[in-house]
Amino acid sequence: MSETVKKAILPAAGLGTRFLPATKASPKEMLPIVDKPLIQYGIEEAIACDIKEFVIITGKHKRAIEDHFDHTFELEEKLKKSGKKHLLEVINGLNQYNIAYIRQGYALGLGHAILCAKPFMKDEPFAVILSDDIVDPEDTLLEDMIRIYEERGSSILALQKVPCADIQRYGVIKGSPDGKGIFKIDDLVEKPRAEDAPSDLAIIGRYILTPQIFDILERAKPGKGDEIQLTDAIQELLKTQPVYGYQFEGKRYDAGDKLGYLKATVALALKNPQLSDEFRSYIEHISKQMEANEIHRETAR
Ligand code: UTP
Repeated sequence: MSETVKKAILPAAGLGTRFLPATKASPKEMLPIVDKPLIQYGIEEAIACDIKEFVIITGKHKRAIEDHFDHTFELEEKLKKSGKKHLLEVINGLNQYNIAYIRQGYALGLGHAILCAKPFMKDEPFAVILSDDIVDPEDTLLEDMIRIYEERGSSILALQKVPCADIQRYGVIKGSPDGKGIFKIDDLVEKPRAEDAPSDLAIIGRYILTPQIFDILERAKPGKGDEIQLTDAIQELLKTQPVYGYQFEGKRYDAGDKLGYLKATVALALKNPQLSDEFRSYIEHISKQMEANEIHRETAR
């Protein structure tokens, strides 16, 4: 049994071009889903797996992330005075996490962002959480990946089947089944054209990596999009140690993309105890309205 995973890196220094203009001066990672920013979902997912130390990679216009996980004296006093105990607890909970911040001066790619965290890591495995990939909080993806890491002592990548039309947006694996939902990876291709993709299994935003990845990233040259690609580094890692993929069958939303963000908002609002009844009625109401409009349009033709 290998040592367990105690730390997580959350890269948050990307430019968020798919969400412009909202992300011009505000971090994509602070976009809210219902009432929590994307990055808070990522931290809470890790906390649920007993991870207690975090490194967030930040960049220009990302100050709001640090403020979010810090004290806000005036707000705390106001909530205290007005007796809003529950909100005060929620706000105070955000100061309790053990987070280190490191700035990536230029967005040179995900691989480079991970490399920036090297000084905070000892010779130990760590999780990488891309907080714009929202995993349904009821699912146990990261927990399952950590368990597989403990059993195998090798890097584990989260995988999901994606439709052919979307494959060129992902890193894609070539591999063979090696246990329930587990694949032994033979090769990886970053953002292949659909006709060149070695499978329909794409890498999604959760990784458990062994520390050897840092040595590889230090030597890495820019790849696709002129960025230091994590996928290229993992491909290099494959030459010296096994890497496994774990196929996630649950719900994941690419909230870094407008449509994925809207889907995540609807799904999580429907699960929110304070909102679900009224929101469900509203969705039913607009669905009926849309259906009626459709029939009206059909008959008018
Ligand atoms: P994305 O591929 O989503 O890129 O990065 P992005 O810049 O955030 O957004 P788009 O594609 O332009 O809309 C995946 C994750 O890696 C981080 C991002 O913040 C995001 O969490 N990242 C990416 C960095 O921290 N640094 C980088 O140089 C690139």
